[in-house]
Amino acid sequence: METHEFKNVEPFGLMIDLTTGQMPGATNHLVRRASDMKGHYADAAALDRLIAAGDPVHYEVFEYPVPEQDGHLMYCISKLLPGLVGEEFWMTKGHYHSVAETAEIYLCLQGKGYMIMKLNDGRCDAQPMERGRMIYVPPHWAHRSINTGSEPLVSFCVYPAHAGHNYGDIVTEGFPQRVFRRNGREVIA
Ligand code: F6R
Ligand code: ZN
Repeated sequence: METHEFKNVEPFGLMIDLTTGQMPGATNHLVRRASDMKGHYADAAALDRLIAAGDPVHYEVFEYPVPEQDGHLMYCISKLLPGLVGEEFWMTKGHYHSVAETAEIYLCLQGKGYMIMKLNDGRCDAQPMERGRMIYVPPHWAHRSINTGSEPLVSFCVYPAHAGHNYGDIVTEGFPQRVFRRNGREVIA
């Protein structure tokens, strides 16, 4: 019979730079480049041009992980760089949590943008992100961050360690709202 053994860790603390999000000692480093974003932007040709022009890093996630078990809290720094794909601001892929009944807290440390959230009944919400603003992503809501500024959009994220990531319908359906720069202005459409 399979037994479920709870793994614990010793108490610990670490320093986080509250502007850059730099977290020395982070052992997991996820990097997503423009080429990892195929299917996500409205202007696919503009994304192809960006990939051909050097395939820049889009965003990075730094983690110092804890066991991925119910009872622990995972935390990380999400750093989304500024840029445009055609008229659309750079963004993360976005995801649901695999364990849907899990929430997440984002505390924005630097930059500006939006957290776009959607529920599978069609509801959508766009919460502004700026330094010092906390966003609560409730259970069941898919979430994507979008950088509308000129510096990195950096957030400290905390969520149940067993939540997992489900990219599910995000590539096929996307989110009901996108954020563009048109005639020098930010437009949510
Ligand atoms: C974790 C979480 C963030 C994102 C990160 C990258 O649950 O929401 O750490 O994972 O901002 O975004 P995705 O995972 O959508 O590529
Ligand atoms: Zn999440």
